[in-house]
Amino acid sequence: MSIDAPVLSEATAVPVRTATKRTVLMCKPQFFTVVYRINPWMDPALPTDTSLAVKQWQTLYDTYVGLGFDVQLIDPIDGLPDMVYAANGGFVIDNQAYGAKFTHVQRQPEGPAYMEWFGANGFDVRVPVETNEGEGDFLLVGDVILAGTGFRSDSNSHAELSIIAGRPVITLRLVNPSFYHLDTAVAVLDDTTIAYLPSAFDAPSLAILQERYPDAVIVTEEDAAILGLNSYSDGYNVVIAARAKDFERQLRERGYNPIGVDLSELLLGGGGVKCCTLELRR
Ligand code: ARG
Repeated sequence: MSIDAPVLSEATAVPVRTATKRTVLMCKPQFFTVVYRINPWMDPALPTDTSLAVKQWQTLYDTYVGLGFDVQLIDPIDGLPDMVYAANGGFVIDNQAYGAKFTHVQRQPEGPAYMEWFGANGFDVRVPVETNEGEGDFLLVGDVILAGTGFRSDSNSHAELSIIAGRPVITLRLVNPSFYHLDTAVAVLDDTTIAYLPSAFDAPSLAILQERYPDAVIVTEEDAAILGLNSYSDGYNVVIAARAKDFERQLRERGYNPIGVDLSELLLGGGGVKCCTLELRR
């Protein structure tokens, strides 16, 4: 696995991308299963294989370690099967951890569990007033935070986060229940580049995205339908769903290094690569 961006000759039109080492928080899916349905991907009638989920998750963990990331772990809690989706545990910036306040009762105990971890690990915990699902709906692009609403995070949380983070927060409204978190419809590739699925947004939100990111990667419905956008980039290496073939091609064309992983078991809960990853910014 190559982790450093190659230096390309100026004759090629492909830009040179730069990787920066990331610190992320993950949670082993030791208690993963699907026993309730809070998004269209989840079907409690379908069997899940917890040991396979752990094996697939371990591949993602190993990929991050191989990329030189600092990967931190929070202990999974029995009875909280969605805790593996660490992205929802909060939003961390400038050593401040804005806690999550979950929409659905089934996940509500995760909010305090993650806040406890942040506090014990030296972060300044900001207890949320407004309903929000952390990095599932908040994505930092350069110095701006894109924020999703419509299914989970309340738009009031956007204003709350803006004050805490001291950065502009741009509200985007999601309209397709299959893409219920912003990180299922937008991928951040670097400080100025995103990839997204246009049909996941209402018209005003789509206009904002088109205006701000005229060079964005537009993914196919097929790739989005396997949560291909739910990926994590260090600026050069982009860890994506292995089955998102067109996205992979587009990333390569633009000078990124796509790395495919198979998280099919965690897709049964409605999550992928990014959902399992919470960035920690000291
Ligand atoms: N089953 C979880 C839920 O519905 C999946 C969360 C996926 N996480 C994400 N960041 N998109 O809440």
